[in-house]
Amino acid sequence: MERNRRHFIYMDHAATSFPKPREVIEGVAEGLRNFSANPGRSGHFLSLDASRTLFEARETVARLFGALDSRQVIFTRNVTEALNLAIYGVLEQGDHVVTTSMEHNSVMRPLRDLVSRGIIQLTVVPSSKEGVAEIAGLAEAVRPEQTKLIVVNHASNVTGTLVDLKLVSQIKGEALLLVDAAQSAGCVSIDLSSLDVDLLAFTGHKALLGPQGTGGLILKTGQEPVRPLIRGGTGSHSEFEAQPEFLPDKLESGTPNVAGFHGLAAGIGLIQEEGVEAVRDHEKRLTATLLEGLSQMDRVHIYGPRDPERQTAVVSINVDGMSSSEVGFQLDRNFDICVRTGLHCAPAAHRTIGSFPQGTVRISMGMSTTMGDVEEVLEALKWLVSH
Ligand SMILES: Cc1ncc(COP(=O)(O)O)c(C=O)c1O
Repeated sequence: MERNRRHFIYMDHAATSFPKPREVIEGVAEGLRNFSANPGRSGHFLSLDASRTLFEARETVARLFGALDSRQVIFTRNVTEALNLAIYGVLEQGDHVVTTSMEHNSVMRPLRDLVSRGIIQLTVVPSSKEGVAEIAGLAEAVRPEQTKLIVVNHASNVTGTLVDLKLVSQIKGEALLLVDAAQSAGCVSIDLSSLDVDLLAFTGHKALLGPQGTGGLILKTGQEPVRPLIRGGTGSHSEFEAQPEFLPDKLESGTPNVAGFHGLAAGIGLIQEEGVEAVRDHEKRLTATLLEGLSQMDRVHIYGPRDPERQTAVVSINVDGMSSSEVGFQLDRNFDICVRTGLHCAPAAHRTIGSFPQGTVRISMGMSTTMGDVEEVLEALKWLVSH
């Protein structure tokens, strides 16, 4: 049942951005209204309009991330599907994979599945207590001729800790580098033209401001050996029962979410108007204020780097003497503040930072968060720790 709230503060942008901008809502509505024919499937003008809409969304994504060619942007339902596509699509019997102890279950569960079936060997390199990937440890773990894939998240969904992708790419050798950009796409600049990242997985509904049900995998050269996760109708080469070999059709089957990707393009348009660097600066200022206020509260323990330069606008805390869920409940019930508590689908990350199994209270901010919101959260926490 909907609660009637005069005013609320949304601090759960790492889960999904909210509220969605008017332009995104209108983009989805316009997509449903005008472009809901099946793209690439028929020759009539409505189908062509839908194809053009999807193509424009693909171009918008390609431009944002500096992709070589928009055909190398594979649309998926979310980053989970993109990561599964990359992991199951690349790995074969006998391959070795290197990853970090800060990964989300969207990475760990597919990898653990392949390990449990005896298909791959996996090395999970410990990160520091602040969630910082140990580059020397990653370099040591890479086995020449056997390591097929290195998987790292660009920013942790638990502590916001950023990974230096340039450094990781320097140690990857012949392995493919797969980056989970769920927490960075849209709020940290990513330029594939100057980064040696082979596979970039993103989700549309977080800092890219798009609707849920949108995401993708970008192939740096288009030559990466990725097998399809699903096969089926593409509208192309219908005379053959074998999956087409060209992108994006090779890796994208079934009727796509045209309206959703039209809305995502509108979200990306807003970010480009503002500039990713400006979004990042705004979020750094919010993070600095939040960290400063939290550091003055005796009973509050802050996890992660505690440095806006080294993290996104995600801050995990615990309050002495209270469980994370109790803090979250009090913030919601008494102050109409939405945060996420618990393990955030990343148990390994909580083991790394020392908050397993109780988890943390995660305060995560976005483009629409104001300094006033941060101040209200600090006031609420001040009240909580003193009562
Ligand atoms: C680092 C990271 N990876 C993967 C995911 C999964 O995202 P989605 O549910 O959009 O697939 C998330 C979302 O919370 C995340 O933060």
